[in-house]
Amino acid sequence: MTRGASVAEPYRKASPNWLELRREIDARSRSPALERQAADRLRDVQPTPNPTRILDLGAGAGANLLHLAPRLPLPQRWTLVDRDRELLASVPRGGPGVEIERMACDFLDPGSPVRARDGEYDLASANAVFDLVPEEGAHALARWLADRCPLALFTLHYGPETRFEPSSPGDERALALFHRHMTREQASGRAMGERCEVALPRALRDAGYEVRTEATPWRVRPDDIGILLQLISFIEDACLELMPGEIKIGEWGKDKRRLALAGRLSATVEHVDVLAWRRA
Ligand SMILES: C[S@@+](CC[C@H](N)C(=O)[O-])C[C@H]1O[C@@H](n2cnc3c(N)ncnc32)[C@H](O)[C@@H]1O
Repeated sequence: MTRGASVAEPYRKASPNWLELRREIDARSRSPALERQAADRLRDVQPTPNPTRILDLGAGAGANLLHLAPRLPLPQRWTLVDRDRELLASVPRGGPGVEIERMACDFLDPGSPVRARDGEYDLASANAVFDLVPEEGAHALARWLADRCPLALFTLHYGPETRFEPSSPGDERALALFHRHMTREQASGRAMGERCEVALPRALRDAGYEVRTEATPWRVRPDDIGILLQLISFIEDACLELMPGEIKIGEWGKDKRRLALAGRLSATVEHVDVLAWRRA
């Protein structure tokens, strides 16, 4: 689950604290089966000691690098792309057999350094990124990728819904507003938001990839208190941005926070992991 910007802002920056907080729950939610299949395919095509070339889109502070590097064949050369220069600067340096380069640019812009250069990659990766991307942008990017990268592993993309346990009568309205906020008009267009689960596989299929998906929901437990409180705030802030002064949303948030702090709230946040390989 990610946040977006308004038309006025070019984009809303992801908070480093939120990215750090979600790293652990992402790690326990990712599909190990799709990761293994990606690693097996890379081993099949890369039997020589050439580095595995990985293009990580929306790299943030390097969550994919940290998670995937130990699971993929070595040596590796990572190209980490993010429009947020500060987040990229915080990515840890590579380790033995892992080389990294950082590119601060917008991967949706066909004129950006990453799109303009004639690079080829063995794997494209992205974690929690495409729900921020408009569908047309995802189609164009998938077509561009299909010419230079045979394999993609796109993980933890939001959709279609979030459920709290216990549920309350305000949940439906709060979540409907939250989804509307994710997909509102922004500088880069309307993000896919909760439709990403369907729209991302479609973009990859249309570009010539075979696609396998796996549901990878976050099972947010009562002791994931940081995640629960942040989820409640994200939903509340999004609703209030669309409907300033809506008292019922404030009450909804207060009630959810009370349950969370009493250790009585859990949630399921649906996501999908997508493995795509170019059709022969
Ligand atoms: C929710 S964060 C995820 C970061 C990282 N992948 C992780 O799992 O922690 C989404 C990231 O995608 C980046 N991003 C979104 N759209 C982008 C674009 N068009 N070009 C470059 N970066 C983008 C944001 O700056 C942000 O760092």
